[in-house]
Amino acid sequence: MNPFRGRDVIGITDFSRKDLEWLFRVTDRIVEDIGEYTDILKNRILGYAFFESSTRTRLSFEAAMKRLGGQTVGFAQPMVTSLRKGEKMIDTLRMLDLYCDVIVIRHPLEGAARLAAEVCECPIINGGDGKFQHPTQTMLDLYTIYREFGGVDGLIVGVLGDLKYARATNSFLMGLCMFRPKKIYLISPPILRPREMVIDLLKASGIDYEFVDDMQDVIPELDILYVVRIQKERFPDPSEYERIKGSYYVSLDYLERAKDTMRIMHPLPKLEEIDPSIDKTDYALYYKQAKWGLYIRMALLVSILTDMFE
Ligand code: CP
Repeated sequence: MNPFRGRDVIGITDFSRKDLEWLFRVTDRIVEDIGEYTDILKNRILGYAFFESSTRTRLSFEAAMKRLGGQTVGFAQPMVTSLRKGEKMIDTLRMLDLYCDVIVIRHPLEGAARLAAEVCECPIINGGDGKFQHPTQTMLDLYTIYREFGGVDGLIVGVLGDLKYARATNSFLMGLCMFRPKKIYLISPPILRPREMVIDLLKASGIDYEFVDDMQDVIPELDILYVVRIQKERFPDPSEYERIKGSYYVSLDYLERAKDTMRIMHPLPKLEEIDPSIDKTDYALYYKQAKWGLYIRMALLVSILTDMFE
């Protein structure tokens, strides 16, 4: 059974490990024979409503839809719509709902995607809501690990950076809880540790996890180092950001103690937290990760909109 048919994608925890593994198999099939799927979403329209900036999420969803023969309409700047005249967001979304078959929304407020799903008939995909969730990022992150390592089970994963405000790491940690990694290191300055809800999920999962202040303490153990930038735009108090900025940095020197097979992931955009000279090394998985995002989103759109895969 296709577990995604007609479904909203609001949070990663709306899906099970079995659902995600099903999606990975569909993605594999699309990757293996991409020419087979060029018309599968002909006459279907993806609407996008981006109330916050984006490079990868919006462009990869648009590219995914077009590579499947579908079309896209939407906005990346809300002020070019009648929101500028004072139209309510839910009315703007209702219009996309009338015109489209599936909608991707990104919004700075937590819960915006859930609200959209309540208002709209067609499936809603959360392209990131505030600091809460980014489920399709997690799908592509987990798929990247599945492709590179054959799966998540048994791996030692370090998650480094702003674990408090980054929706990518919130969602990633929630996603990891569905699998059996050997250990998760939560590497961050103490004030940027994950929110209580994520810690509660980690506790309930029974996965061994540990808070770490300094990445150098654990780097030789890691199979994956997942890095995220400091989310400056989400700090309620700018002075808190000023105190913490530049507090972590992955340099090429640090990697001398890492396993040769260790890989660095990053949802991107990356700013100052990774030495750019790492980009050309085998450690850097982040550009490949972004490419897998195109394919997982193709698989997701086909699965939501068709019965092609059962
Ligand atoms: N990873 C990610 O969500 O990137 P964008 O903000 O560019 O979409």
